[in-house]
Amino acid sequence: MRKEVSINVLNINLEKIKEPILDLGCGSNAKLVYYLRRLGMEAYGIDRTIKNTLYAIKADWFEYELKPNYWGTIISHLSFKNHFRRNHFKKNGNHIAYARKYMELLDSLKPSGEFYYTPDLPFIEQFLSSDSYIVEKNDIKDIGGFFEYNEPLNIQSVKIKKINS
Ligand SMILES: C[S@@+](CC[C@H](N)C(=O)[O-])C[C@H]1O[C@@H](n2cnc3c(N)ncnc32)[C@H](O)[C@@H]1O
Repeated sequence: MRKEVSINVLNINLEKIKEPILDLGCGSNAKLVYYLRRLGMEAYGIDRTIKNTLYAIKADWFEYELKPNYWGTIISHLSFKNHFRRNHFKKNGNHIAYARKYMELLDSLKPSGEFYYTPDLPFIEQFLSSDSYIVEKNDIKDIGGFFEYNEPLNIQSVKIKKINS
């Protein structure tokens, strides 16, 4: 997917983005990671299909250990969250492992760090304490003409800001 599409859909303001940045499920080309790097930002990507480089890490997201209070921004565009959502609604899905990893991802944000993702996950977002996180959602109406949709998308992009550890 084009990196501009991810940035627009997720409502990311590149002037205010916090580093270091992790793109979880960055795709086999890690386009967004290299785009952010070209802008001078400290960005890394994880994907199980990628070739290992300094900034792109070939790993399964369940096996990749996340440091607590470390990341300024985590991005997950149609990747981890998409899989989480599918597993949540699937009979015998792996939703517990996804829920644990989701909490680990939030824990790995540094204070005032932000987590951007699509699609939204209301079944878990509703349990986040408002003392610790601010959850902001936006309807996705247009994804830059990359796909053609005849009906409303009915999905939202989400930004979660950590306000307390
Ligand atoms: C739909 S693609 C989205 C890629 C990218 N975020 C984008 O917006 O173009 C989903 C990505 O998640 C990766 N993925 C799926 N399961 C994974 C896992 N368990 N660990 C690491 N990456 C995974 C896939 O390899 C794929 O590149």
